[in-house]
Amino acid sequence: MNENKSIILKQVSDLIQKGEVVAFTGAGISVESRVPAFRGESGLWEKYDANTYANLLGLGATFLIKPKKVVGFITDIYETILNAMPNPAHLALASMEEKGILNNIITQNIDNLHQRAGNRKVIELHGNLFFLRCLKCGNRRELKEQEIRDILSLMDKNLHSRIKLFKTFLSLFPKCSCKGQMRPDIVLFGEELPEGAMELSFSAIDNCKTFLMVGTSGVVYPAASLPRYARRCNKKIVEINDEETSLSAIADYKLLGKASEILKCFT
Ligand code: OAD
Repeated sequence: MNENKSIILKQVSDLIQKGEVVAFTGAGISVESRVPAFRGESGLWEKYDANTYANLLGLGATFLIKPKKVVGFITDIYETILNAMPNPAHLALASMEEKGILNNIITQNIDNLHQRAGNRKVIELHGNLFFLRCLKCGNRRELKEQEIRDILSLMDKNLHSRIKLFKTFLSLFPKCSCKGQMRPDIVLFGEELPEGAMELSFSAIDNCKTFLMVGTSGVVYPAASLPRYARRCNKKIVEINDEETSLSAIADYKLLGKASEILKCFT
């Protein structure tokens, strides 16, 4: 490690040990858990066209014409995340929460890895793949791992029959006890964020001293407005990323490198 980086690391570590930290995380924190990020060479949107796969209309229309493609996409995402384990970066944030120096995580991730690492105070901006949400009453219900595996294996078995495939696909959209329609609790492009998520995030930022951005490109709004809000509130801004991003310009401290290697220095 070069001398300059170790000086910044020490400064950031001192800041973090003082507490009142809010972490703002993106897909980069899960890359070392083998969950690919969205952008960049091996990003999900390189493999699957976001215009088709990142919105409900595109997914629905593609399902009608080429159902196997949509099933392949859903299977790919769920299997990747089901097979992923929290990595040292997630565990470092969990240990910081346990020590009382991390107030909240605001995450754009839908992979549930922060919760699995042990964090309890997680604000999810883009939902969570392991939950269904009722469009009528807003009730959320957990999708158990086995339930997901059963749906995936049934889809695989029914690949030859469009009707059976469609029926299995619909198990991701069951009825709620209020008879309302449920759907996977994730935010696709063009959709609103979960009710109250931005307000909770603003309030978490108001109450923090340090805003720690980890593994996000900061290009998707409204989430990307939060670092700018923290800047306006004169919070200390730290960026951990393996490359420069659109947020680098507002950071007081920039730590270039892998999230796990850097975050474990703070535990
Ligand atoms: P991106 O894929 O846009 O950015 C991931 C960031 O993580 C990049 O800046 C990488 O340089 C960085 N990175 C990758 N590996 C890393 C590592 N090991 N350590 C540190 N940094 C690393 O992902 P997000 O910023 O999360 O939204 O994307 C934001 C939103 O765009 C997502 O929530 C999703 C997506 O479309 C929706 O689907 C609504």
